[in-house]
Amino acid sequence: MSDTGYNYRVVRGFAFSALFWLVIGLVVGLWIAFEMFNPALNLTPWLSFGRLRVVHTNGLGLGFGLAAIFAATYYMLQRLTRTPIAFPRLAQAHLYLFNTVIALGALSLFAGMNTTREYGELEWPIDIGVVTFWVMFAINVFGTLIKRQEKQMYISLWYIIAMTVAIAILYIVNNLEIPISLFKSYTIYSGANDANVEWWYGHNVVGFIFTVPILAMFYYFLPKVSNLPIYSHRLSIVSFWSLNFAYLWTGAHHLMLSPLPEWLQTVAMGFSLFMIAPSWGSVVNGYYTLNGNWDQMRTNYLVKFFIAGITFYGLQTLQGPLQGLRTLSAFFHYTDWVPGHVHMGTMGWVTMIISASFYYMIPRIYDREIYSVKLANIHFWLMMVGQIVWTSAMWIAGIQQGAMWKATNPDGSLMYNFLDTVASLYPYYQLRFGAGVVFFIGILVFAWNLVMTVRQEQEPGKASPSIL
Ligand code: HEM
Ligand code: HEM
Repeated sequence: MSDTGYNYRVVRGFAFSALFWLVIGLVVGLWIAFEMFNPALNLTPWLSFGRLRVVHTNGLGLGFGLAAIFAATYYMLQRLTRTPIAFPRLAQAHLYLFNTVIALGALSLFAGMNTTREYGELEWPIDIGVVTFWVMFAINVFGTLIKRQEKQMYISLWYIIAMTVAIAILYIVNNLEIPISLFKSYTIYSGANDANVEWWYGHNVVGFIFTVPILAMFYYFLPKVSNLPIYSHRLSIVSFWSLNFAYLWTGAHHLMLSPLPEWLQTVAMGFSLFMIAPSWGSVVNGYYTLNGNWDQMRTNYLVKFFIAGITFYGLQTLQGPLQGLRTLSAFFHYTDWVPGHVHMGTMGWVTMIISASFYYMIPRIYDREIYSVKLANIHFWLMMVGQIVWTSAMWIAGIQQGAMWKATNPDGSLMYNFLDTVASLYPYYQLRFGAGVVFFIGILVFAWNLVMTVRQEQEPGKASPSIL
């Protein structure tokens, strides 16, 4: 509890849980990236790419992503409503249950228990845990909003509400399944319906974890760190509603040229193109907020993180709609281009914004200065270089891979067999691994900087962090 009455204990708990899961998830990511050009390392099922890939995606999406979102949400919610968390004990129980569920989830995936639905791989007993901690979180979000002292609802609160409601619906609908034992269940959907539900979920769970709450942080923390009001509240509200409306129609762009009805694919294509508008509404809002104050990119280390982050979001939301077009999907789908797209978002946008939000929050909730601005700058550049090399390597690999798969001889036979195409990608996989190591070192610097911030002695009279 702080002197303002706000509860920061749970914020701290989630923030350091996020750091923990980030490091674990990245170590697994590095291992699978290494296995891609050293396939002999698939020594046992426990160390196989198939099992570890889902530990990586769940560890980072659910472990790191959600923990960071919970930390930032509990912080923003209290500040924006000027009200302490409605049920602090429930929030603390949420923290413990969350970490237990994520640890059990990781272990179960490691052991090969997997529903085989992408991003919904956890088996039914773990799903019940996820739904339970989500309900605990939702009770606190809505409980605090109902009790709020500040009537005005800032845009970040709308994004938090959208995430809370959308994830609950998506997770439950996608995970309707019939258990046949403690560790195995089958989905209630079948055939094309199954694929459609899976990608309606898969696309939106990414959107409502890796976009919506990250935008909540962007809209809250950018004005805080730059000391400038957001350029346009109206634009932020228009972007918010149009983003939520359009997002839920786009899932079928993952299923282009599949047995899904063609009209549904075309609707998804149309809404994907439309998504450029609300996404860029936020990008433009961010850029215009800095209008006339661009020198802060040089003088304010946190502004740099936020502007780089929103720029990668802008690029990602141009690339996404294009690769969702039927003709481009025919070329890029199944290639390494797609992990390139994914990691510009996760490494360049999500991790960048979460890092900066933590640099702002942690010193404040511990009431001390950041340990080292210099280390934060080193962290920034290592992440930046790591991400750009990682993603560029995969885009080039994806183009080569797609072209090789489709190349034909004059008699119409395929020019390359599948193994040729895999072997030709090894140099790109090696480059990706190297870039991943650079990114990972950046994250270790980040973790060290935060741990040292907490551990250092507070000097009297130096309570305000040097962010400007
Ligand atoms: C306007 C916004 C966006 C659109 C229209 C879009 C579109 C797409 C499309 C069409 C694919 C499928 C590619 C394929 O398999 O052929 C895809 C994959 C993916 N996108 Fe985006 N994207 C957008 C923004 C984002 C953002 C901001 C993120 C955040 C990190 C993201 C994360 C992902 C992920 C994780 C996948 C991989 C899904 C899988 O496992 O196959 N996307 N996106
Ligand atoms: C050191 C940094 C990282 C490395 C080396 C790494 C490595 C990998 C590898 C090798 C894959 C499998 C690609 C494939 O199947 O061909 C993958 C997939 C994925 N990773 Fe990472 N990753 C890193 C960072 C991250 C971060 C920070 C996040 C999220 C916050 C993330 C989320 C994902 C997701 C969602 C996928 C699935 C993509 C898809 O289905 O297309 N990764 N990663």
